[in-house]
Amino acid sequence: MDTITAHGLRMPRLGLGTYRMTGARCQAAVESALALGYRHIDTAQMYGNQDAVGAGWQTSGVVREDIHLTSKGHHAIQDPDQIRTACAESLSLLRTDYLDLYMLHWPRPGTNLPAALEAMMGLRDAGLVRQIGVANCTVAHLRVAIEDVRAPIVCNQIEYHVLIDQTPVLTYMRAHDLPVIAHVPLAQGMLADHEALATIGRRYDISAAQVALAWLLDQPDVAVIPKAERRESQLANLEVLSLRLDDADRAVIAALPKTLRCVNPPFAPRWD
Ligand SMILES: NC(=O)c1ccc[n+]([C@@H]2O[C@H](COP(=O)([O-])OP(=O)(O)OC[C@H]3O[C@@H](n4cnc5c(N)ncnc54)[C@H](OP(=O)(O)O)[C@@H]3O)[C@@H](O)[C@H]2O)c1
Repeated sequence: MDTITAHGLRMPRLGLGTYRMTGARCQAAVESALALGYRHIDTAQMYGNQDAVGAGWQTSGVVREDIHLTSKGHHAIQDPDQIRTACAESLSLLRTDYLDLYMLHWPRPGTNLPAALEAMMGLRDAGLVRQIGVANCTVAHLRVAIEDVRAPIVCNQIEYHVLIDQTPVLTYMRAHDLPVIAHVPLAQGMLADHEALATIGRRYDISAAQVALAWLLDQPDVAVIPKAERRESQLANLEVLSLRLDDADRAVIAALPKTLRCVNPPFAPRWD
């Protein structure tokens, strides 16, 4: 499996997103993905499925050291004590004594970002998490994290797919060698029916969804975490690791409108 290595992070570029899967369905999807060769699972406290993810990896037979496990504290949690408590809960539910990556899920307006990052760094120093990262951060947040706090964050998980323009934050991240984890890489499934992507896919006998993921994986230091409950989706997404688009395909995708933001809750920051 292709991996991203940066700042001590070693993470498979394809992971399994788990949002909106809970209980036995989530456990089965995790077991299926691990059996197919996935070694990167993305969960979060707010998904309400950490226990199912924990049960899934434990019954899969894959040893813990071979799995990259990411979690995130609830988006309402920003206070250092709450961050420590949330991390302890994640470890317990996920049936592990460390996380490979722990993220600050949302920088909410009014968050004391330096204090939150210091708490995250404490978790890393205590060996509870191997690496720390952030999600949904804009350039302004990243400047605080990297330039002011000098927090050793190893990635920013942001919405990234063929229909959104993320140029400002990507430019800053690339200047600081900060990998991207693309969430909602299929625009919550909408891209599976996208006509222009399907037209590109017909040239290679692949699907529109595979084209969307291939476009992301074509870019350096980008990982993708499509949620895929069905085994056929999991398999199709694994196949993307060996697909390549050409310049003509990239030109078609570059010309698509880039105005779709799927994840924009009321507490989201003002986007760049
Ligand atoms: N940090 C954040 O704030 C944040 C926010 C949102 C999401 N996330 C993470 O990102 C992950 C992905 O986002 P998402 O789940 O919202 O949306 P997504 O991955 O963009 O889309 C998921 C949808 O695409 C379908 N799909 C997957 N592979 C497919 C394929 N090869 N062909 C056709 N359809 C396919 C899935 O169907 P089936 O499941 O039926 O196979 C599901 O309906 C989440 O699960 C979560 O882990 C993070």
